[in-house]
Amino acid sequence: MAREFTRVGVVGLGTMGAGIVEVFARNGVDVVAVEISEAALARGRATLTRSTDRAVAKGKLAEDDRDALHSRVDFQVGLDALHAVDLVIEAVPEHLDLKRRIFAELDRVCRPDTILATNTSSLSVTDISVATQRPQQVVGLHFFNPAPVMKLVEVVRTVVTAADVVDDVEALCARLGKVDVTIDDRAGFIANALLFGYLNHAVSMFETRYATREDIDVAMKLGGGLPMGPLALLDLIGLDTSYEILNTMYRHGGRDRRHAPTPLIRQMVTAGLLGRKSGRGFYTYEKPGSPKVVPDEQTPAATQQAPESAPESTGGSAGSKPAGPAAVTTVGLVGVGVIATGLVEVFARAGYEVLSVDGDVAPTAGISEAVRASLDEGVARGDLSAADRDATLARITWSATLEQLADVDLVVEAVAEELGGKQALFARLDEICKPGVLLATTTSSLPVIEVAMATQRPADVLGLHFPDPTARRPLVEVVRTVHTSGEATATAQAVCAALGRTTVVCGDRAGFVVDALLFPYLNDAVRMLEAGYASVDDIDHAMKLGCGYPVGPFAVLDSVGLDVSLAIQRSLYREQREPGLAPAPLLEHLVTAGYLGHRTGRGFRDHTGR
Ligand SMILES: NC(=O)c1ccc[n+]([C@@H]2O[C@H](COP(=O)([O-])OP(=O)(O)OC[C@H]3O[C@@H](n4cnc5c(N)ncnc54)[C@H](O)[C@@H]3O)[C@@H](O)[C@H]2O)c1
Repeated sequence: MAREFTRVGVVGLGTMGAGIVEVFARNGVDVVAVEISEAALARGRATLTRSTDRAVAKGKLAEDDRDALHSRVDFQVGLDALHAVDLVIEAVPEHLDLKRRIFAELDRVCRPDTILATNTSSLSVTDISVATQRPQQVVGLHFFNPAPVMKLVEVVRTVVTAADVVDDVEALCARLGKVDVTIDDRAGFIANALLFGYLNHAVSMFETRYATREDIDVAMKLGGGLPMGPLALLDLIGLDTSYEILNTMYRHGGRDRRHAPTPLIRQMVTAGLLGRKSGRGFYTYEKPGSPKVVPDEQTPAATQQAPESAPESTGGSAGSKPAGPAAVTTVGLVGVGVIATGLVEVFARAGYEVLSVDGDVAPTAGISEAVRASLDEGVARGDLSAADRDATLARITWSATLEQLADVDLVVEAVAEELGGKQALFARLDEICKPGVLLATTTSSLPVIEVAMATQRPADVLGLHFPDPTARRPLVEVVRTVHTSGEATATAQAVCAALGRTTVVCGDRAGFVVDALLFPYLNDAVRMLEAGYASVDDIDHAMKLGCGYPVGPFAVLDSVGLDVSLAIQRSLYREQREPGLAPAPLLEHLVTAGYLGHRTGRGFRDHTGR
């Protein structure tokens, strides 16, 4: 007979516990909510009140339902209050000794049939369970932040958890409107094992001043398509909790150096900068617990804007005169591939005169047809008028020669990703182009400086990286080499603004911001699959429902292309020599087998419709 859960206990009403109380009480379950002191209890109650009041204000919860929800919660200090509950979920800080002590105490206080669950993110559920006399009734129930919103619960079974306990807890998740994935007891489970290496890397980018906090967060939102940036997410999770999770993952997850907490995290925790809950972390918040970011000394003077309210674009509109410096009105675009095709359209639509050069490759018939077709589709969708389309086409000179670039103000190179070819092209551009012209490469994996040094004017050379898909992502990474002048950078930023794109400025390192943060995560997902820990669907689900990602890692890999992903991962590994960045063997094998993703009909999934 399946267990009935009519009354549950929640221990610890911090960031997670208060949210978990809300989830149960909203779904008609009585809750005994326990804290360590009256003061902590008052904070937990206030968190619940704030959250339910917000839900009422947004029209997501009726006032009567809110009152009924609160009437189901019994706030108490001390574990003794849990003597009559059917299930307890522990959500105290991420310390093994503390959790083991609490479980031993719960074992003493609770009825013999009560199930004991931990919300730990990274600690061993097995280690916690053996502090009790009932390890077969102990599971991990890992909710995601914010618990009332995120759909995923990871149900963690240990080698001794009874099967009926897992079944009953899974049924409970369904009753709460959650989707569960059931997995074995491994540090970080699915989502955190894939998330925290990425978050830690973002902190080290910030710590080493590779990019600003705003640029890192905006890059991952606009360039990576993620719901929030990594530093803002760390503030939401809590820096103290994040530190403990990383520490455990490092020690029990194979001593991968990517999980060794970046020193800055420890310093911030020591200084009491814990994120939203303390009112300050990477960003400053209106008050402790508030989600509202307020300007502080690090806020860029020009924008004084919070990252979550960053504009999708910084100016420009289709068909308008370029808002960039007057010096840039004509643009040479060299290349015939996907990026070049996208950029010819993007520049011409923004009002620039475009010379499309096929370089030494193939005739440009393909590119002009592709741009025409794309513009026609835009007209059909209602994105632009037929007159705008015709005006856009009139601004493009097809099949221009390199020599015709003598008078342009900007050259954007988008030829094949091969260093020798790019260097030869830049050497030619150096001979042909007038002085002071900005020379940009769209490379995604080659060092920009190697290309710049093929010219006699490296100060005028930089990278303009348009993350895939070029036509849709509203971001450009402006890549500065050690030689690039401030003027060249400013011109590039102004031109991108005229294209309606947000820019982030970063140094000349493999992967820049977006790819360097994104691809190791994708590679880690492949390793997790390879290790047999979880399936393609479970991993994709976990990242979508637990972290709010629009698509899971395998969907991204199949869409970007496994060969492209492998090439980027290889370049990251080559540059950093970090063992954890070595491409997953499974990724290499699939590429060798010709399973490249959507393009070939098969990647991690079969797309042939069979
Ligand atoms: N923060 C997240 O995003 C997140 C997400 C998923 C899981 N988790 C996990 O949830 C757990 C809690 O994390 P958090 O971020 O909510 O921590 P938190 O620091 O925000 O809250 C912990 C709460 O536990 C209370 N507490 C401490 N000792 C206690 C005791 N002996 N009895 C009762 N209450 C006690 C504290 O007063 C505090 O309110 C951790 O295991 C963490 O790894 C956190």
